[in-house]
Amino acid sequence: MKRTQVAIVGAGPAGLLLGQLLHKEGIDTLILERRSAEYVGSRIRAGVLEPGTVDVLERAGVASRLHAEGLIHDGVEIGFRGQRHRIDLKALTGKGVTVYGQTEITHDLMNARAASGAPSVYEAEDVALHELAGTSPRVSYRHQGVAHEVACDFIAGCDGFHGVSRRSIPASVLKVFERVYPFGWLGLLADVPPPWHELIYANSERGFALASLRSPTRVRCYVQCSLEDRVENWSDEQFWDEFRRRIGDEMAARISNAPSIEKSIAPLRSFVAEPLRFGRLFLAGDAAHIVPPTGAKGLNLAASDVLYLYESLRSFYREKSERGLDEYSPRCLKRIWRAERFSWWMTSQLHRFPDDAFGRRMQETELEYLFESRAAQQSMAENYVGLPFEPMGGS
Ligand code: FAD
Ligand code: DHB
Repeated sequence: MKRTQVAIVGAGPAGLLLGQLLHKEGIDTLILERRSAEYVGSRIRAGVLEPGTVDVLERAGVASRLHAEGLIHDGVEIGFRGQRHRIDLKALTGKGVTVYGQTEITHDLMNARAASGAPSVYEAEDVALHELAGTSPRVSYRHQGVAHEVACDFIAGCDGFHGVSRRSIPASVLKVFERVYPFGWLGLLADVPPPWHELIYANSERGFALASLRSPTRVRCYVQCSLEDRVENWSDEQFWDEFRRRIGDEMAARISNAPSIEKSIAPLRSFVAEPLRFGRLFLAGDAAHIVPPTGAKGLNLAASDVLYLYESLRSFYREKSERGLDEYSPRCLKRIWRAERFSWWMTSQLHRFPDDAFGRRMQETELEYLFESRAAQQSMAENYVGLPFEPMGGS
């Protein structure tokens, strides 16, 4: 039977980043990924990085292209009743955010993994986790028709919301918290210079819209859509017409009907599974929690889980201490719930909810208060740029 120190299930940003941090520490890992490398490298997802996430990527040694190509944004805008209101992140917190796509981070991490020589198995089928409660867990899988089994010290469940890791924890141990929202986001990527300099999150009578970007020549835009909507039912022209109706007159006049490179629909969900540990299995990223995308927290939260897991494993191997491992789940959950709160709040304030006249008044009141109160803006800004990491062994 093969052996590794940490078996990592999933080659999304969480699994790849953990692999890179552990490699730099001299800890052996094996990454098992269900999809092909091409598929993993072509998924279009998040786009906004907190400064703390950039620090973690730097620590992993994968930030040079990010620093060269990432765009620093010192503010974001909220569109409401045809006006745009700027939240000055830099003035309010001393920090900005970096616009750099998850697709690019994934490429940087995959390249670093290949250069390190550390092993990854793509298109690994039937991944199954065994003996999690003891000190010698195992992972089995099939690759190109051949069955394999790997012995390890720990398993990192970085396999996203639909992965096998969370499902391997007995239901009697896991407590699940969930809210499903009655709408989704239809996203479109197009090669056209963005007329907006900063992201615009728009609450309009017709529903939410987000104007984002990936580079000085590429936009990423979203509109709130129905859960029954299908991508095939939205032509590019229909998307842009709807986006223009929601984003405000000035930007509507300045964005053309650029052909889409990619178009997809994502449902919106809040979800947390507690605890993030079962014996020698540790969950990180979307395997343990989902946030609705409105606060741009999904990828950032995956990065902070991974930093904490890396620190816990490092202290186990360096100091033979289990303390970091014991602290992992409570340490993560504090930051996870704060990001859940912020993402729920942003989602609640900016979307159109069906048949909720009282809720609409609350949105109007909340947004007016936000635009008038520096304290409210500060609260939004400190969450948007990311709350601080918990120190290990902290209170
Ligand atoms: P993932 O990126 O999901 O990676 C998990 C990996 O595990 C995948 O490669 C998967 O193929 C693999 N896997 C799954 N099951 C198995 C198995 N059984 N065996 C082996 N491997 C397995 N966040 C934002 O902030 N803004 C956005 O706009 C945004 N858009 C999103 C759109 C979509 C469609 C989705 C799904 C998520 C989006 N997110 C967004 C969230 C953000 O992309 C995630 O939080 C982030 O990808 C989490 O990284 P992860 O590595 O934990 O999980
Ligand atoms: C993007 C996605 C988000 O969910 C968000 O809040 C900001 C930007 C994006 O894909 O660019």
